[in-house]
Amino acid sequence: MNRAEAVSYLLRDQPKDPKRDEGVYFAPANIALCKYWGKRNSELNLPYNSSLSISLQQYGAKTMIRPHADRFNRIRLNGQVVDNETSFAQKITAYLALFNMCSVTNYSVDTEINIPVGAGLASSACGFAALAGALGRLYDWELPKSTLSILGRLGSGSASRSFWHGFVEWQAGESADGMDSFGIPLTHLWPELRIGLLIFNTLAKPVSSREAMALTVATSPFYSLWPAKQNADLVRIKEAIATHNFNQLAETAEHNALTMHALMLTATPPILYSLPETLQGMKEVWHCRQRGVPVYFTQDAGPNLKLLFLAKDLPAVLASFPSLQVIAPFEGRDVA
Ligand code: PMV
Repeated sequence: MNRAEAVSYLLRDQPKDPKRDEGVYFAPANIALCKYWGKRNSELNLPYNSSLSISLQQYGAKTMIRPHADRFNRIRLNGQVVDNETSFAQKITAYLALFNMCSVTNYSVDTEINIPVGAGLASSACGFAALAGALGRLYDWELPKSTLSILGRLGSGSASRSFWHGFVEWQAGESADGMDSFGIPLTHLWPELRIGLLIFNTLAKPVSSREAMALTVATSPFYSLWPAKQNADLVRIKEAIATHNFNQLAETAEHNALTMHALMLTATPPILYSLPETLQGMKEVWHCRQRGVPVYFTQDAGPNLKLLFLAKDLPAVLASFPSLQVIAPFEGRDVA
């Protein structure tokens, strides 16, 4: 099965004509505490392993989609028209082409993303989730969120986790067509948990996560160790969430991220997303811990760090990282 066949199958009983003038959908960005790194099927973005994330509350993508009477899609990002030749526009155009069983041939897509794009801050996750959700609203598809999650996954794997707030597990699934590979929200709330964005560089990354993942799987001599480590980390993280054991959660998440980056360093050619500032930030986090402040980090396919800590430690964390952008992922929520 290819991506277009998966979309046709999922939408087999759904309307193919727009039911309103526009569809609008907001999807939060998500940061993996237990990473997705390696695809068993790169066409369908099916992972070897399950992963688990926390959504970033009000940070994410809001997309409005409308039919566009022209020969091309018109794509706007944060109010600016994006050149159709850019890889950003081409990814969106290729994704929209998967829905060619629908009556609209070209769309106007307006996306507002309030985090840096392409810098390893989960912009593609929230971007594809918002796009799939907006299409669903335009056509009035009556789909369970698990199906929307599969549609998002076909754009970018981590998008499967961006349809909910709070903690979300993306279950890897086993079937070849990926119909059992989607996000599932965890019901646990953890109001004291804080995420801090430590942004060093907002430029788009030099190597895409797709390329980096494929290279790691194909060339790192240590990749074979990852699946067992990942499964064990997932168990520890879920247990830590259930028991509100912050140190277990954050220590496991930090080690999981460091392992993922160590695998990338041992790929051929090596992949290094960190900048000198990234390493300086890591050292400062470790230094804070030596001083008794429980703060940890995670890092994705980019140089920026995301800090994990509890609300009570905010003043101490800000003293070391004054420019930190702080997110309270559970603020004002009683359900995910
Ligand atoms: O969904 P992608 O292709 O952008 O890959 C995401 C990869 C990581 O962010 C590094 C890990 C993850 O699980 O989100």
